[in-house]
Amino acid sequence: MKRSTLAAFRMNAKIFSAVVMVLACCSSLAAARSPKALKSLGQGHRMTSVYNFEDGTGFVADLELIKRTEIYGPDISPLRMVVRYDSDDQVHVHITDSTQTRWEVPQDLIPRPAVPTLALKGESNAAASNGRQLELSYTVEPFGFAITRTSTGECLFNSTPPIDSKTGEAGFNSMVFKDQYLEISTQLPQNNSMFGIGESTRPDGLRLMRNRTYTLWATDMAAYTVDVDLYGAYPFHMDIREGGATHGVLLLNSNGMDIYVGEDLLTYHVIGGVLDFYFFAGPSPLAVVDQYTKLVGRPTPMPYWSFGFHQCRWGYENIDDLRYVVDNYKKANIPLDTIWNDIDYMDAYKDFTFDPIRYDENKVREFVEELHANGQQYVLILDPGISVAYKNYSTLERGLKDDIFLKNEFGNNYLAQVWPGPVFFPDFLHPKATSWWTTEVADFFKKVPFDGLWIDMNEASNFCTGSACSFETSSLGTLGMLRGNDSSNDQCILRCVNGTSRFDNPPYKIDHVGTYNNLGDKTIAMTVKHYNGALEYDAHNLYGLSESIVTQKALQTVTKQRPFILSRSTFVGSGAHTAHWTGDNKATWEDLKYSVVSIINSGMFGVPMVGADICGFAGNTTEELCSRWMQMGAFYPFSRNHAAIGTDSQEPYLWESVAVSSRKALGLRYRLLPHLYTLMFEATKSGAPIVRALFFSFPDDLETLTINHQFLVGNNIMVSPVVYPGHTTVNAYVPKGTWYNLFDFSKVTSKGERFVLSAPADSINVHVHEGQILPMQEARLTSAEVKKTPFTLIVAFGDASFASASGKLFVDNGVDLEMEVRDGSSTFVQYFAERSLQSGSLVGRVISGDYALEQGLVLHNVRLLGVAMSPSKVFVNGQPIAAAEQLKYDANLASVEITGLNVAVGKDFEIKWESQESVGWASQ
Ligand SMILES: *[C@@H]1O[C@H](CO)[C@@H](O)[C@H](O)[C@H]1NC(C)=O
Ligand SMILES: *[C@@H]1O[C@H](CO)[C@@H](O)[C@H](O)[C@H]1NC(C)=O
Ligand SMILES: *[C@@H]1O[C@H](CO)[C@@H](O)[C@H](O)[C@H]1NC(C)=O
Ligand SMILES: *[C@@H]1O[C@H](CO)[C@@H](O)[C@H](O)[C@H]1NC(C)=O
Ligand SMILES: *[C@@H]1O[C@H](CO)[C@@H](O)[C@H](O)[C@H]1NC(C)=O
Ligand SMILES: *[C@@H]1O[C@H](CO)[C@@H](O)[C@H](O)[C@H]1NC(C)=O
Repeated sequence: MKRSTLAAFRMNAKIFSAVVMVLACCSSLAAARSPKALKSLGQGHRMTSVYNFEDGTGFVADLELIKRTEIYGPDISPLRMVVRYDSDDQVHVHITDSTQTRWEVPQDLIPRPAVPTLALKGESNAAASNGRQLELSYTVEPFGFAITRTSTGECLFNSTPPIDSKTGEAGFNSMVFKDQYLEISTQLPQNNSMFGIGESTRPDGLRLMRNRTYTLWATDMAAYTVDVDLYGAYPFHMDIREGGATHGVLLLNSNGMDIYVGEDLLTYHVIGGVLDFYFFAGPSPLAVVDQYTKLVGRPTPMPYWSFGFHQCRWGYENIDDLRYVVDNYKKANIPLDTIWNDIDYMDAYKDFTFDPIRYDENKVREFVEELHANGQQYVLILDPGISVAYKNYSTLERGLKDDIFLKNEFGNNYLAQVWPGPVFFPDFLHPKATSWWTTEVADFFKKVPFDGLWIDMNEASNFCTGSACSFETSSLGTLGMLRGNDSSNDQCILRCVNGTSRFDNPPYKIDHVGTYNNLGDKTIAMTVKHYNGALEYDAHNLYGLSESIVTQKALQTVTKQRPFILSRSTFVGSGAHTAHWTGDNKATWEDLKYSVVSIINSGMFGVPMVGADICGFAGNTTEELCSRWMQMGAFYPFSRNHAAIGTDSQEPYLWESVAVSSRKALGLRYRLLPHLYTLMFEATKSGAPIVRALFFSFPDDLETLTINHQFLVGNNIMVSPVVYPGHTTVNAYVPKGTWYNLFDFSKVTSKGERFVLSAPADSINVHVHEGQILPMQEARLTSAEVKKTPFTLIVAFGDASFASASGKLFVDNGVDLEMEVRDGSSTFVQYFAERSLQSGSLVGRVISGDYALEQGLVLHNVRLLGVAMSPSKVFVNGQPIAAAEQLKYDANLASVEITGLNVAVGKDFEIKWESQESVGWASQ
């Protein structure tokens, strides 16, 4: 809509008539002040016109500044606000300059409905107004908007400042909109709980702290540095109100920002872009993640094998080191699916090359072929920086030909420095980047048929700061870095000019690590240009996401199979393309403990395939720490042991005690693979995190909001790890209900209270909650072997006289591009069970697909937990089971084990049992 058109609406008598604008929400009188907010950043805006979309899905409004200020630069006025009810559970609020186009997260990175600017006629996907769960209201002067939950009238967001009745002072600034500074606040109750906003390591736990600034700026800062901006950026949080109703708030903006969480307010201080809010109605945590991932991208399916165990280290000197590690895992009977290479394999740290001596490409290929023959995989690392120190490096030459590298302010390729020395960075926003990267990946795959790619250093990390850098060829040889096997030197050898522009040094300083007066500290200079002139200043936080997207496309093209990608830097929407690990942690008990929160947060951000470096990356681990970490890490969605160069080796077979606890914990993980894989399937459909906070399943239990060192796998498996040295018990919070230990089936019945659980050195507590049916297989040393074993169903009943349980199973070949319910290539089964005092039944219903039938998958065993009387008769599809030995009852555990079944996983079945003490089993 043009300015003139909108101006005409001012004359329109219908203006303001059709939308509710009474704002009676959150009328808190407290003066809550953000310490970062400057006083009197203007007096806000007034709404000068509003026009409703004809289809009733929202409106467009014009906002005009009331009073100019010069702090942080001149104001932008007028502004255009578009409000759209995208669906019953989502409201979109978009505010920007009404005349000039501003930077926004590009549509091709996160495809989403375009912001409508004209009256929408006729059909639309947006909801009819009577089903809306959220309602937006606004005030005209000063302008403010509020989001209310329709069912309760509770105010969820309110950008109008509260006024102190005594002093007349406003609690915070009205909305501020300048080129390099946007500020908007919301009033908050003091007793809500908020989660999310990342990425950072959180010693204080899951819940966002009050009076704390969270800074979003993708930075190569070791994850053991707590409470600072790390590799990824997520301006998304979940807000749980008294009573448990939960909503989500996303500010879809890629610029650097501080988010201040105060006692009774939350303030965004953003250094560019637009205000692009999405409010998700929930009302449960799972519903919020569902709504959020529906918008930003559902998690991409991960290959089945990637749920097996992974081993990596930086410092595997040569191919024989890898072979030695793989052999020793086997000798020690510890499962291992995938062996990894960090940068050690490369020739002088050049991407897509192998060191000709230590990692001779032919020997690597032979090794990888052996791995594949043994049902194992190989993943290796790529960094974005492309070496420019060698004249005859074809990857560089093809990149130069396609002109896909980032440009400095003079239009030349931007020079930076990473492990290979001087590099150019590919511009993954460039339309030709995909074909170039795909060619490189294809050539590389021809050399060695690897199974996945690990994309690191993509914040992007730079050993130098500044622009217009240059180097002397003579300086290259003097540093160990280019020898290809000495990575101790990360000193800058380039000569650069530190930028002084308003982008390097913007008027508002976000609280990022690094020097305040240079936003480009140890990363790409802010004045660097991406395709179409996009500034690094705006696109910085998107580098990892854009590389993930291009790498995913490349792998899909080259391997024709489901990609496995592990990215360090991530953004909103990254889960649709990549897995993530929490970065450079340290071998300390604190890091072990903090990993729980980091992993839960990643799942909440829509990146469910996540893990922390098991046993710790930096520093030397200890036997006890590594043992406890192997136990906990066995239940990370992505489970990988990884160490830094210069640290002692930490493969689990190196200590007998670690080997014992690894066999035990990984043994359970491998038995649970069908369940983990089914959770992946569910994540691709609803965003549901694989590992979750306890409050996801027990939202009515306020105590769960404070549990930071236990977690759920799916809905109903609770892991309560030991996170302190010298402990052989865990003081675990056990939400209400009956829980069964998955190792020995012992039972804990809780009213919602703490229990001291025994946790001897070789053991971790893993419990399944009543109501769950778990599909399991048999433990083997690789996931490929597990896949061939018969199934067991664990059915966990509660204590009530009538109890029920349910579960799901998804199976497919594990590598198809799609993970879909469809005929032939997959099977999806649902299980239901119920039991009264004297009888019960378990049914399997095949919802779709012939895969399980074609593969001949069979169910051999059923274990019923919580059955108080020994069954006297068991019928399988109407037939009594053949032999008494097939039925075992353990009165102590109230557990029934039915063995020797031969039921097809791919067909419907029904198992019934009766308990009649008068009728002996033997009478059959
Ligand atoms: C929580 O905060 C709301 C709004 O500030 C208030 O109405 C409610 O009484 C508070 N509840 C408790 C338990 O403090
Ligand atoms: C808020 O945090 C700041 C900085 O850490 C501190 O100086 C101040 O006392 C805190 N205020 C409150 C109310 O806790
Ligand atoms: C450059 O690379 C090509 C292709 O790999 C090779 O044939 C040629 O010998 C190389 N030239 C030099 C000078 O290394
Ligand atoms: C690194 O490589 C150089 C030359 O290839 C070799 O002389 C040196 O011994 C290597 N250093 C280590 C620590 O392996
Ligand atoms: C440029 O900035 C970096 C990081 O802030 C600093 O270490 C370096 O000394 C500066 N260089 C010059 C030439 O000012
Ligand atoms: C780890 O221990 C080794 C001795 O086993 C020692 O040489 C090395 O410096 C230690 N590394 C760290 C990071 O503490």
